[in-house]
Amino acid sequence: MSRILGIESSCDETGVAVVEDGRRVIVDEVASQIDIHRVFGGVVPEIASRQHTQIISQIVGDTLRQAEIGPRGEGLDAIAATRGPGLMGSLLVGLSFAKALAYTWEKPFIPVHHIEGHLFSAFLGDEPPEFPFLALVVSGGHTQLVQCDRPHHYEILGATRDDAIGESFDKVARLLGLPYPGGPSIQAAAEEGDPKAIKFPRGMRSRNSLDFSYSGLKTAVLYALQEEDHPPLADVAASFQAAAVDALLIKTRQAIAQVRAKRLVLAGGVAANRLLRQRLMEELDVKVYLPPLKYCIDNGAMIAAAAHSRLLHGHVGDMRTTPEPSLAL
Ligand code: KG4
Ligand code: ZN
Repeated sequence: MSRILGIESSCDETGVAVVEDGRRVIVDEVASQIDIHRVFGGVVPEIASRQHTQIISQIVGDTLRQAEIGPRGEGLDAIAATRGPGLMGSLLVGLSFAKALAYTWEKPFIPVHHIEGHLFSAFLGDEPPEFPFLALVVSGGHTQLVQCDRPHHYEILGATRDDAIGESFDKVARLLGLPYPGGPSIQAAAEEGDPKAIKFPRGMRSRNSLDFSYSGLKTAVLYALQEEDHPPLADVAASFQAAAVDALLIKTRQAIAQVRAKRLVLAGGVAANRLLRQRLMEELDVKVYLPPLKYCIDNGAMIAAAAHSRLLHGHVGDMRTTPEPSLAL
């Protein structure tokens, strides 16, 4: 049995968790800064790092107490933190805190790629995926189709050429006057709207590429809103969401056929989207693994889960490990 402390601080959530054997979440605490950044319409990096700095001692302390970890880290086998990608100042807070604990308590320190963390959130569900699988990664900064043949071996089959899908939800929400973060706001507004009201573009239609494009969709929403007699905002939100999700299904189907995938793992903040979850489950001929809703948005449990597998494979960091804001998968 192994118990790992996972710390996530790449953006605007301070997530701290203790996870057993990469599967069972003992304690999971997330302090969200959404209310602080909302007035600015998006994340302000300097404010984000200050908030992480102010809260991290308290949230790590609370998590360790609830998990009944001893004062010298008794009961913990390793300490993990997100190394990147993300905001430099924010990453630095979580990574430095984790390294300091690991050094003091003489435990292995495990740096984790943020997207690998999201991928491992699927392992926190009732039925963990088996390798190999195809992964659809959809977050605020990433839109990727990734082939995972075995743990920690990733081949990127396709990625966005411009905006990430989460970013497009956030930008379109701003156009619609809906609060940050855009994903949940648009999802809620779309419930009242007609998804067929406007036929928005579905991104890259080329059969030769698994890449995505979301900037055209955002511009199409902007133009639609400039029309004097545009449909109600709920219809625009529903039509946008339908197009954004449809674009994912088109490329995911194409990728499944190309690599003859049998399993699909969904990962990232946009994995919380109800329409996306429903369509993937209903329309694809592969076994679909959805992360529990609670672990879609950034959290420490997914970092601890990924770190468990890294530790098993002997992938540990050391005191020289630095944050990498543009870390590649
Ligand atoms: O993974 P995440 O928490 O942070 C990054 O790694 O980027 O993802 C945040 C993104 C935001 O763009 C947010 O609008 C989007 O996930 N999101 C959603 C939903 N919940 C969060 N997008 C669509 N539908 C949702 N229900
Ligand atoms: Zn994320």
